[in-house]
Amino acid sequence: MTENFNASVLEAVPLPAFFVDADGRVTAANARAVELQPQASENRPLILVFRQPALNDAVEKCLRTRQQQRSLYLHNDGRQEHRYEVLCSPVEGGGGIVCFRDVTEERQLDQMRRDFVANVSHELRTPLTAILGFIETLQGPAKNDPVAQERFLTTMSNEASRMNRLVGDLLSLSKVEEVSRMRPTDPVDLCRIVNASVQNLSPLAEENRSALTFENENSDQTVLGDSDQLLQVVTNLIENAIKYGGQGTNVTLSLSELPRVLGVRGPAVRLTIRDNGPGIDEIHLPRLTERFYRIDSHRSREKGGTGLGLAIVKHIIHRHRGRLEIESVLGEGTEISVFLPVH
Ligand SMILES: Nc1ncnc2c1ncn2[C@@H]1O[C@H](COP(=O)(O)OP(=O)(O)OP(=O)(O)O)[C@@H](O)[C@H]1O
Ligand SMILES: [Mg+2]
Repeated sequence: MTENFNASVLEAVPLPAFFVDADGRVTAANARAVELQPQASENRPLILVFRQPALNDAVEKCLRTRQQQRSLYLHNDGRQEHRYEVLCSPVEGGGGIVCFRDVTEERQLDQMRRDFVANVSHELRTPLTAILGFIETLQGPAKNDPVAQERFLTTMSNEASRMNRLVGDLLSLSKVEEVSRMRPTDPVDLCRIVNASVQNLSPLAEENRSALTFENENSDQTVLGDSDQLLQVVTNLIENAIKYGGQGTNVTLSLSELPRVLGVRGPAVRLTIRDNGPGIDEIHLPRLTERFYRIDSHRSREKGGTGLGLAIVKHIIHRHRGRLEIESVLGEGTEISVFLPVH
């Protein structure tokens, strides 16, 4: 086998890969391997290139026993710790090939999936436990107490509605994720969406003694979008402003068009939802759009929140190739802006 042949085979491998001879010296390395480990020059013992005992043991064992070996390699590129799965295989004529597969993201996704299942289970279990407890009471101590029965049934109904809302939000999130790569193409009048949302939420605003003011209710701002999803975004944001702004908050909505916005291609429409509520501490801001993230989970739960609202909002805006901006000052209020491209 010529050296050129070895080099071209390695370059065709879509992973960092090295050929080593029977003594464990590097005989060839592809460009990805050199990027991973710049000291990987020809003739250098692989042991000195990587200096990680588990990996070196695996290579040594593969060369000695002529059996495929697996190992792990941890690498810090200065920004992040990467985890590689290393496969060392013997090749005919002596020596072996060592390939590195970056599994960092895979592991993070795995962890996220596990956290998500744990969160969903926990969120469902809380109301379910309450309902089971009330059923037991209704079957036992409250069997002949119509007043208590009425009260317990009302609470059970609230808890069941919570579970229903949670399942609804989860389905909504998965539906948005499913179509996230397909950019919507229908022209949508955002002003009409905001007016519809204001109308839907006026009973909640009244109950909370909040004033909802839409500054541009007769404007005409068209974007390419999915009207159901945009209604969901606007409703979520106004609902949050009313719910978390506290009793008697003023919620102001405004629409404007901007020729240029960071992170959005071409001219954009900006929708701003401002409240003069208690505001959000800046330490929470980067995490607010995570699933199930609530600042005061007890208070939010009391208000029927599942902590999925802003995660859904973020996904929908992302699908529309737009941007979400959250600004807040403690004691003064919160301003949330949605930027959507016009074309
Ligand atoms: N305008 C606001 N003022 C103060 N806090 C806010 C505001 N908007 C959101 N928050 C905080 O952000 C958290 C996350 O909001 P999000 O809409 O994602 O969830 P939720 O309202 O709890 O549940 P859901 O929207 O699913 O009913 C809320 O629990 C609340 O603590
Ligand atoms: Mg919400």
